[in-house]
Amino acid sequence: PTIHDQKLHRGAGGELHQLAEDGMPVLTTAQGGPVSDDQNTLRLGARGPALLEDFHFREKIFHFDHERIPERVVHARGYGAHGYFETYESLAAYTRADLFQRPGEKTPAFVRFSTVAGSKGSFDLARDVRGFAVKLYTQQGNWDLVGNNIPVFFIQDAIKFPDVIHSVKPEPDKEFPQAQSAHDNFWDFITLTPESMHMIMWVMSDRAIPRSFRFMDGFGVHTFRFVNAADESTFVKFHWKPKLGLQSVTWNEAVKINGADPDFHRRDLWQSIQSGAFPEWELCVQLFDQDFADAFDFDILDPTKIIPEEILPVKPIGRLVLDRMPENFFAETEQVAFMTQNVPPGIDFSNDPLLQGRNFSYLDTQLKRLGGPNFTHLPINAPKCPFHNFQQDGHMAMRNPVGRVNYQPNSWNQGPRESPVQGYRHCPAEEQGSKVRLRPESFADHYSQARQFYISQTPPEQRHIAAALIFELSKVETPVIRERMVSHLMNIDETLASKVGHALGFKSMPKPADAAMPTRQDLEPSPPLSIIER
Ligand code: HEM
Repeated sequence: PTIHDQKLHRGAGGELHQLAEDGMPVLTTAQGGPVSDDQNTLRLGARGPALLEDFHFREKIFHFDHERIPERVVHARGYGAHGYFETYESLAAYTRADLFQRPGEKTPAFVRFSTVAGSKGSFDLARDVRGFAVKLYTQQGNWDLVGNNIPVFFIQDAIKFPDVIHSVKPEPDKEFPQAQSAHDNFWDFITLTPESMHMIMWVMSDRAIPRSFRFMDGFGVHTFRFVNAADESTFVKFHWKPKLGLQSVTWNEAVKINGADPDFHRRDLWQSIQSGAFPEWELCVQLFDQDFADAFDFDILDPTKIIPEEILPVKPIGRLVLDRMPENFFAETEQVAFMTQNVPPGIDFSNDPLLQGRNFSYLDTQLKRLGGPNFTHLPINAPKCPFHNFQQDGHMAMRNPVGRVNYQPNSWNQGPRESPVQGYRHCPAEEQGSKVRLRPESFADHYSQARQFYISQTPPEQRHIAAALIFELSKVETPVIRERMVSHLMNIDETLASKVGHALGFKSMPKPADAAMPTRQDLEPSPPLSIIER
């Protein structure tokens, strides 16, 4: 029989599908060839050797062998959803970003929530920071606000990122512990890095064990800039506030939930969206100028600091609604590529040295993880506005220039052109200075905001912080590391320090830590100690 004799079914796009004997579509190879037998390899006789010419078998196994891509080097375990962002009012006075011009404007969005330290298969309720990465498909290209559920970070300079992440990930010889901060390497790094003290107080708080993604904040962390049509800039901090409010679990609950249902958070997001209870966040901003920034003792470029909302209240500017789960986890949630450098005209960077480093890291890592330069050809990463450029070729190129012209300027009057008016213009900030590797003095206070955070907590929340510190530090085997942490706590809150020291069995309290970054000499006892202790 020829194809014309087969049972055929016309698909939604008008295409003809061959139907198998039972009326279902015929199974095909990736090349579209119909398959007759998917249960048995081609063999020489029923009990004989398999034949190399079995192209269906080879293609099927080859494809299976290549199913895995590298998991993200951080934030490997994540869960995403689609939705939209709705603008409340025009912000034209502050930014020329198209998505903020018209009240009621809806911008498609994709959000991926994640833990940071654990591998892709780790459990949801680890004590950890949560990623809150938002991709907004604006009419001027994608804007990625790649944030966390904690408003500050461990380090002030991106050059320290491999160190902080190596220290929190499983130790290289043991390959454990998995997805927890409770180990010597992590606390060793943290206690040798006083700038992490503010963040560590948040990580020891209930914020690090959220009840679900629906009950947590998101923060852009860094100071960014809004830039208006006149190229005037305003500093901006971004906050996502959950409509349901903040909720966490206790550590006792977290441990039980992890044992009973390691997928607790992803199940919660799936079930709420499938049942029509769409989670919602308000995007709020803190807007300020250089004079306001200069009035603080700390630096607004320092990502270990917040601007207290009591001093500068947040202004709601829109809402994010998540109303649709991906059809395919891998195609969307796993392959989505967030990059801090994705900003539309009207949004710009500050000189925060962590942000500046991130702007290199994300493009670099996507190139490796997604296997080449064409990851924007994947539907989840492609802009939803018209786009035109002369990029071509490379692995898996799905789009190439059409016609003769793949460069400009050209004499054929073809192809896209740059536009000084509509195109991205960097904020013309005046900069000058010598080339140095130097942390400014304005980045030096590591304890004041850690203390303010602790004091701002209710008594039960303060008890949870103390319990978390006692639990975590009791897992630390090297005494000097425990002592070092308590000596930092002395600078944050003496009562907290003595509670923790007491529970750890200290006979006397250590001196408050020296606030300065430790020098080589200070570190001298460390290498021999770590060898002896093990
Ligand atoms: C991934 C947030 C600092 C490098 C992520 C993700 C989030 C995030 C939310 C997961 C994105 C997703 O869901 O796909 C943050 C925040 C930071 C920070 C809020 C500090 C404020 C850094 C720094 C670096 C870095 C300093 C490097 C210098 C990476 C890399 C990934 C990642 C390489 C993996 C990306 C991927 O494979 O898709 N980060 N991060 N991050 N981050 Fe960061």
